[in-house]
Amino acid sequence: MTSPNETSGATRVFEPARLGPLTLRNRIIKAATFEGVMPRGAVSDELIEFHRAVAAGGAALTTVAYCAVSEGGRVHRNTLVLDQSSVPGLTRLTDAVHAEGALAAAQIGHAGLVANTLSNKTPTLAPSTRISAPAMGLVRGATPDQLAAVTADFERSARVAVEAGFDAIEVHLGHNYLLSSFMSPNLNKRKDGYGGSVANRARFPREVLERVRAAAGDKVAVTAKFNMSDGVPKGLWLDQSMQIAKLLESDGHLDALQLTGGSSLLNGMYFFRGEVPMAEFVASQPKLVGLGLRVYGPHLFPTYPFEEAFFLPFARQFREILSMPLILLGGINRMDTIVGALDEGFEFVAMARALLREPDLVNRFRDESATEGHCIHCNKCMPTIYTGTRCVVREAQQLIG
Ligand SMILES: Cc1cc2nc3c(=O)[nH]c(=O)nc-3n(C[C@H](O)[C@H](O)[C@H](O)COP(=O)(O)O)c2cc1C
Ligand code: SF4
Repeated sequence: MTSPNETSGATRVFEPARLGPLTLRNRIIKAATFEGVMPRGAVSDELIEFHRAVAAGGAALTTVAYCAVSEGGRVHRNTLVLDQSSVPGLTRLTDAVHAEGALAAAQIGHAGLVANTLSNKTPTLAPSTRISAPAMGLVRGATPDQLAAVTADFERSARVAVEAGFDAIEVHLGHNYLLSSFMSPNLNKRKDGYGGSVANRARFPREVLERVRAAAGDKVAVTAKFNMSDGVPKGLWLDQSMQIAKLLESDGHLDALQLTGGSSLLNGMYFFRGEVPMAEFVASQPKLVGLGLRVYGPHLFPTYPFEEAFFLPFARQFREILSMPLILLGGINRMDTIVGALDEGFEFVAMARALLREPDLVNRFRDESATEGHCIHCNKCMPTIYTGTRCVVREAQQLIG
């Protein structure tokens, strides 16, 4: 029972909380869900409405995803590049979010081995030369000059994000995108100062974070979405990711770390859990890719049963060794899970699918008309990233009326 001097968990969820230089109106962040409404990288009205609705639904901070730092860093051609031309559109987006009382974060990154180079018509980069299925061919290990260029791209994109009115910048250090792939012993086989030891593999992401922090200034929060485990044999695992997290903490460039895992290259279901929507994936792809998916799909998308807060057992290990603010992510669907996370010392939670299913869930938690979300973890929203990201169950409900 709560004593008169203690704030109950539920109350604490809806009290304002500090994230670096920001004050968030509550502890709930809308996690990145590639919105799929950036035709040829343009900011569309649909993208703005997506985030306005999340903001109106009560989340404290909504994350625009995914914002590439360069053309080569896009996932495919319909990915936004965070350059000067995107400032007017993104300013409309951040204004719309602010008008609803929420704040906006830009997830910035370079897709690396996850980039579809045929669609991008631009080469991508890897820590070491290897075959990449999304690139449909060989991707070359980056030279030090190329890495310096990517670092400059991150810095420029951070400046653009600030100019466009974003309150926070989330650097993508997860899912085996470029920065994450550098930390992975499975993907980084370099022999120079960017490969080998844990410290060497962390060097490139740390250099990037230093420059992003400098570009962001002191009014914008900088966070990172960070892989605790790649979820693949010989990949990054807690023994090394905890060491890297300590290095990131000691660098002091981050206001919080959002904890994730998995690999969009090698293990696409690790950070989702739940059903594999293979038929929908196949249908969303060109014929040849669909055929490949039928054959290799079960390897790329092994099934993991869904569990509420599935990353909590890993994230606890990080909570024990770090003093910096942490954001718990992964399978959060219930109010009591959020209260439990705060009780365990996590400063914030991030929710993706639960808020795709119900953008107003945070408000309904607050007014106590809901204690649990309606997402059933069917993952059929995943293939909708090619046609406008949405919850298909919600869509069906809306059509029925
Ligand atoms: C449709 C969809 C698109 C996603 N796109 C991104 C993305 O662009 N960047 C990213 O870091 N994570 C992305 N994710 C992963 C989520 O941010 C989150 O890590 C994952 O869904 C687990 O959280 P949840 O259980 O709250 O959904 C996406 C998730 C979904 C469902
Ligand atoms: S389609 Fe809807 S119900 Fe299914 S996982 Fe996605 S958000 Fe949840």
